[in-house]
Amino acid sequence: MRINKFISSAGVCSRRKADELIMNGVVELNGKIVSNLGIDVDEKKDIVKVEGKVITLPLSHIYLKLFKPKGYVCSAHDEHGRKTIYDLISTDRRLFSVGRLDYDTEGLILLTDDGDFAKLVSHPSGNIEKEYLVSVEGQMKESEFAVMRKGVVENGKRMPSARVKPVSFDGKITKISVVIDEGQNRQVRRMFEAIGREIKLLKRVRIGEIRLGGLKRGESRNLRADELEWLSRLK
Ligand code: URA
Repeated sequence: MRINKFISSAGVCSRRKADELIMNGVVELNGKIVSNLGIDVDEKKDIVKVEGKVITLPLSHIYLKLFKPKGYVCSAHDEHGRKTIYDLISTDRRLFSVGRLDYDTEGLILLTDDGDFAKLVSHPSGNIEKEYLVSVEGQMKESEFAVMRKGVVENGKRMPSARVKPVSFDGKITKISVVIDEGQNRQVRRMFEAIGREIKLLKRVRIGEIRLGGLKRGESRNLRADELEWLSRLK
C-alpha cells in the first residue's frame, strides 16, 4: 500500500495532507525519514511513524451519523470553550466530521476515521446533495423562491442556485426544503440574508442518500449496511 494511503487509512489525515507531512520530513518508515512520496508500506511488518508516533491501520473504519444540536461547534477544540460535537460521542478513534454545520445549525453530521472519504464528501466540488429544512417567519412568496432557484446575488456576485420548495405554512412560520450541491461557508444562511429573510431554524436532514431519520438531538449511531453501500459507490 502507498504510504499516503496508509497514513490516511490510519485516520491521521487525507492522502494529500499525508504527502505534505512526508514533504515536511515528519514521516518515518522503519526508523528512516521518508522522502519519496511513491514509497510502499508492507502493512504486515513495516513500522510507520508520524511526528514521532507509531500509527496503525484500524481493523475497519467507523462511519457514524450524529444529530448535532444547536449550540455545538464541529471542531475538536474551541478557543471560546464552547461545547463540541466530540462531547456527544465516545470513541478512542480520531474521527473527522464530514461537512461542518454552524454553531446555530442543527442536523445531520457524518463522522469517520476514513480520511479520504471525509475529504471527498466535504469538498465543495464533490457535488453531493445536502438537504436542509429552513424555518422563516411569515409566508414566503413564489417570487422569492424563484430568486433562490436562479441563484441570489450577494455583493454583486451570483451564488450557486438551489432547489427550493415550500413544505408547510402554519399561519406564522414557513418551512422550506433547500437542496444544494456545494457547501460554501454559511451558504444557506447567506442565501436567505440576501433576500432579506431571517432564518429561525436551520436543520440539515440529508447528505446524499443518508438521512437524519429517527435520530434524536445529540444521538449518534453507526451507518446501516444500505447507507454504507452508498458511501462505497462514491469512492
Ligand atoms: N448553510 C449554512 O448557512 N449553515 C450551515 O451550517 C450549513 C449550511
